[in-house]
Amino acid sequence: MIVAVIGAGTMGLGIAQVSAQFGFETLLFDVNETALAKAKDTVLTSWAKLLEKGKLTAEQVEKATANFSTTSDFALLKADFIIEAIVEKLEVKQKLFQDLEAQNSETAVFASNTSSLSITKIASALTHKSRFIGLHFFNPATLMQLVEVIAGAESGSEALQKAANFAKACNKTTVQCADSPGFIVNRVARPFYTEALLIAEERIADISEIDDLMEATGFKLGPFRLMDLIGNDINFAVTNSLFDAFYYPARFRPSRMQGQKVDAKHLGKKTGRGFYQY
Ligand SMILES: NC(=O)c1ccc[n+]([C@@H]2O[C@H](COP(=O)([O-])OP(=O)(O)OC[C@H]3O[C@@H](n4cnc5c(N)ncnc54)[C@H](O)[C@@H]3O)[C@@H](O)[C@H]2O)c1
Repeated sequence: MIVAVIGAGTMGLGIAQVSAQFGFETLLFDVNETALAKAKDTVLTSWAKLLEKGKLTAEQVEKATANFSTTSDFALLKADFIIEAIVEKLEVKQKLFQDLEAQNSETAVFASNTSSLSITKIASALTHKSRFIGLHFFNPATLMQLVEVIAGAESGSEALQKAANFAKACNKTTVQCADSPGFIVNRVARPFYTEALLIAEERIADISEIDDLMEATGFKLGPFRLMDLIGNDINFAVTNSLFDAFYYPARFRPSRMQGQKVDAKHLGKKTGRGFYQY
């Protein structure tokens, strides 16, 4: 099975790495050549480190490397299974899938790694809607075990099964859920961010205190360190998306403090500055 991953940012590069590592011929695409080169370097460096630590053998790294290629040529995006991980914007994703549909066979399955957009809405732009599903990996995709497999209103069982089989072949645990804003994890997790932002805005504690406290209670990362890892642009877009989709409940209200981070391009680790400096 040939897999294509679209978007070589935080998520796309991790998904492509996992896919190639677990034996799939994988093509990683991005419109931005710099992002693509950086992603390739990150993936190859990660394999070199895994080899050094004895987590992968030289033969495994060789095979994974042979499975992995990158391109910025859209015409080359012909695959059996295509996973999209680009900007969290409905119209941009819809346009991308329309373009993909025009050059791929009817049996190709399309998946979006969207955190919060409606799978049904993205699919509404397609001719063959049953081929379209959500496949939501978590950050970092190489380490996080869970993958949500999301059924839109018109997703077909074959496409859902193909996606679940792919994720399982990549050694992931899958959970299937219906198309609903934020699916399961991002809906449950939303107050972790929004409440923490409110606490900081109300000056009840500063961000490092909040992070340290949450980490001391057992969370791997506090909310601000996690938002910086996710990317403030992505995290803010997801909160806005849930706020809109649930018709504006106070519990999902986006934070102005985070909006300002986005305006200032303090997006987190990926830009070297977010709530913290990197
Ligand atoms: N960051 C997270 O923690 C996380 C977790 C789970 C899911 N997601 C979802 O994954 C998707 C990608 O998020 P990310 O954090 O990797 O974003 P990112 O900003 O790190 O990377 C996005 C990449 O997509 C590329 N891109 C943008 N428009 C494109 C287009 N039309 N065609 C091809 N490439 C294009 C950009 O050049 C960039 O390299 C989003 O839908 C997001 O909601 C993010």
